[in-house]
Amino acid sequence: MKVLVLNCSPKGDMSDCLKISRAFLEGLCMTDPTTDIIYENLVDKKINHCFGCYSCWAVSPGICCQDDDVNDLLTKITSADLVIWSTPLYCFGFPSIGKALIDRLLPLTCPEQKANEDGTTYHPDRQKKDIQFMLISGCGFPNIKGNYDALLLQFEMLFARKDYPRIICVEAPLLSIEDAKPLTIPYLEMVRKAGSEFASNGKISEYTMNELMSPMLPADVYRSMTSSKDK
Ligand SMILES: Cc1cc2nc3c(=O)[nH]c(=O)nc-3n(C[C@H](O)[C@H](O)[C@H](O)COP(=O)(O)O)c2cc1C
Repeated sequence: MKVLVLNCSPKGDMSDCLKISRAFLEGLCMTDPTTDIIYENLVDKKINHCFGCYSCWAVSPGICCQDDDVNDLLTKITSADLVIWSTPLYCFGFPSIGKALIDRLLPLTCPEQKANEDGTTYHPDRQKKDIQFMLISGCGFPNIKGNYDALLLQFEMLFARKDYPRIICVEAPLLSIEDAKPLTIPYLEMVRKAGSEFASNGKISEYTMNELMSPMLPADVYRSMTSSKDK
């Protein structure tokens, strides 16, 4: 299996979310050692804003008129079997680095508008290859509700198949705190288990996804830890 990890964190290799993605892929590789993984730190890439010119639809179908790192990323995306969006939650959505690339995915779609069964509208994929998309995301708050609503809806509208694999980690900054290791080592172990489940069954069980969404520390304890002492 060919896996592409799109690291949307401005922290690059220091990203908390990348720690989760690496653990997931360790678990996956333990079960499927033939896995071929490419990591891309988007912060190191030249990703211009979409011009909104639609030349990738009207002038040169499937090809963007801009000459930056996106063409290479698009080739890597369409060559992968599994694309992992490894992203922190910023302002209840994708950080701008990731959103800039999302806007630039327009060449991968066709201009036609089709209707989903629920009445929503979408542009069909240009390439018929079945790429699976996965979300691995961490955030600083201890809760999902009211925090992840926008990002999850956006991800589902853009990329998701039903029951798509996802790991949402609340209280993710704990992953970089030495004293929190008694909490984060078991958490990352469960992430490895998720990777191994995915390699065996092509999906992560609801049970494992729910466990991984649970806070490592009770929300009130975590919130009080993050309150400034010098107020
Ligand atoms: C500009 C900015 C916006 C953020 N917005 C949110 C947010 O809306 N909700 C949340 O829970 N955490 C938010 N966070 C916290 C990050 O999601 C969190 O620190 C995450 O672990 C960072 O992951 P990374 O190390 O992979 O970049 C924000 C952080 C920054 C810097």
